[in-house]
Amino acid sequence: MRVLITGAAGRLGRQLCRQLADNHDLITTDIVGEVSAKVDLTDYDACRRLLREVAPEIVLHAAAWTDVDGCALDPQRALSANGLATAHLAALTSNDSIPMLYISSNEVFDGMLGRPYSEYDRPNPINPYGYSKWYGERAIAQVNPRHYIVRASWLFAHGGGNFIQAILAAAGAGRSLRVVTNEVANPTYASDLATAIARLIESERYGIYHLANDGAVSRWGFARSILDCAGFAETTIEKISRHEWQRPSLPPEQTALANFAGASLGLRLRPWQDALRAFLDAEDSD
Ligand SMILES: NC(=O)c1ccc[n+]([C@@H]2O[C@H](COP(=O)([O-])OP(=O)(O)OC[C@H]3O[C@@H](n4cnc5c(N)ncnc54)[C@H](OP(=O)(O)O)[C@@H]3O)[C@@H](O)[C@H]2O)c1
Repeated sequence: MRVLITGAAGRLGRQLCRQLADNHDLITTDIVGEVSAKVDLTDYDACRRLLREVAPEIVLHAAAWTDVDGCALDPQRALSANGLATAHLAALTSNDSIPMLYISSNEVFDGMLGRPYSEYDRPNPINPYGYSKWYGERAIAQVNPRHYIVRASWLFAHGGGNFIQAILAAAGAGRSLRVVTNEVANPTYASDLATAIARLIESERYGIYHLANDGAVSRWGFARSILDCAGFAETTIEKISRHEWQRPSLPPEQTALANFAGASLGLRLRPWQDALRAFLDAEDSD
């Protein structure tokens, strides 16, 4: 297939390119990095020109402004980058009956349900990043019937800029660690997610999917496992609540994702502990 990947220079985008390169004709876009076309997706005319030139058979939309604290400080920009850009692509793909896959987030939920969220649970975002991602979900669901909405959580990928590398850098430098106990979700290896997406787009079973590594853990528990797996078992981590970690965006408390729809198609991601070990092994061998 001729596949247009947005956010291709990002954590997930890079893995999607790697996963799909052998079997598909890829066209990549982002506002940064080495891509086929540099396009700001908040510009409708630029999106229109891009789709006309590329004529994709499917659009995988992984671009987003993922700085959740930045989104809290500038909600209008968040709505534009995450909501409006998605609405542009949704309208343009719909006009030409092109399927579109949108990556969304566990942060569309308020975290108050008391059990893992299934695809049919009702979103109720509590911060501007979550609201902007939900805006994107509604835009695509309303206009393009050939849509996949894939919610993911706590992505980690090779190439830097994630929680695992931040924890290991702090431990390696001997800095004291304080990590939140009451924020719970599924850590997800971007490579595993990209593999699942590659299979999902072959299915033509449109709808909402929760594709995250299996099992949930608190930020503190995740940090503890990272240190234990990477040889820092002696390093202690202070337990704090999310209200003690002062930041502009308040994350929802319990947003573990339950994979119901994907599992019915045989799409299951391995437990996050196995994914973490695979990630650390791959980092070591680089
Ligand atoms: N990271 C997570 O933990 C997580 C969890 C759940 C869901 N997700 C979702 O998964 C998707 C991929 O996340 P990721 O972590 O791979 O993100 P990422 O590494 O931040 O990559 C996203 C890319 O999109 C670009 N971008 C931002 N605004 C744009 C615009 N207006 N036009 C074109 N490109 C733009 C970004 O550029 P800049 O770097 O310059 O902003 C970046 O290169 C996103 O939809 C995100 O919301 C992420």
